[in-house]
Amino acid sequence: MTHPRKIIIDTDPGQDDAVAILLALSSPDELEVLGLTAVAGNVPLALTQHNARQIVELSGRIVPVYAGCDAPLTRELVTAEHVHGKTGLDGIALPDPALPLAPGHAVDFIIDTLRREPSGAVTLCPLGPLTNIAEAFRRAPDIVPKVAEIVLMGGAYFEVGNITPAAEFNIYVDPEAAEIVFKSGVPLVVMPLDVTHKALTSRAWVEEMRGLGTRTGQAVASWTDFFERFDTAKYGSEGAPLHDPCVIAYLLEPGLFSGRHINVEIETKSELTLGMTVADWWRVTERAPNALFIGNVDRDGFYRLLTDRLSRL
Ligand code: RIB
Ligand code: CA
Repeated sequence: MTHPRKIIIDTDPGQDDAVAILLALSSPDELEVLGLTAVAGNVPLALTQHNARQIVELSGRIVPVYAGCDAPLTRELVTAEHVHGKTGLDGIALPDPALPLAPGHAVDFIIDTLRREPSGAVTLCPLGPLTNIAEAFRRAPDIVPKVAEIVLMGGAYFEVGNITPAAEFNIYVDPEAAEIVFKSGVPLVVMPLDVTHKALTSRAWVEEMRGLGTRTGQAVASWTDFFERFDTAKYGSEGAPLHDPCVIAYLLEPGLFSGRHINVEIETKSELTLGMTVADWWRVTERAPNALFIGNVDRDGFYRLLTDRLSRL
């Protein structure tokens, strides 16, 4: 893998998506963000693409933002305003973006980029439902073997569900898309709730962010304060799980994480367990391993990395 590593971030901002995007944009020596592709998820597409442009402007970096799919491949869209607020980025009011939306559909950007770049040069980093990625693979199967790796936030095993008793939100919204991605044969690194629920913020860290005295620090502290209330009420946890930043932190410092290379299949039929990631953690089947399923994170190291990088913006 050459440095900086070329990545496309597929995203449904979402306060945690926002922190992940800022983490990536604060690390130009290691990561070249070729573009952000917005997808419907936490909130509808009109808001996720708007929010993505606000986040890029906050970073001070220039990165194209493309609008992608506004609904799952076959199902009605399920959103999560109850977690992220009606804007999807509640917590702080940012100015409307001057950055225009990049022309063209996000799926075409993914296809064109993978066709243009050398094989193995581009890593896909989905932080929301997998609709854009799956649609790109369906429309252009030739790009699938060219993808270096997919590092995604989604799923759960020991933690089970956060949107239903069985399913994590990103997978639940578009299980058919998830099935396409998990069966694609592309090397997968999966950040499930099992690890992201261990990446909890602390009051001290949030105040450290606020104490940076920067727009980024203020935004991250405000988003985290807003985002935390849902998990505290639901799980009784102190702190918010920074789900999506785990994806980018893995690219920057993979040694912070540990997991198992196992088989993971997606439930797409049962209404009761729709969107469940059926992870063969104990290897009780003969199903071929298809994903590095992450179970642990060095929480202190994770937050040290976040502080080190976010303080650069
Ligand atoms: O279940 C957590 C995931 O759903 C995160 O990506 C969050 O942003 C939402 O998209
Ligand atoms: Ca997300």
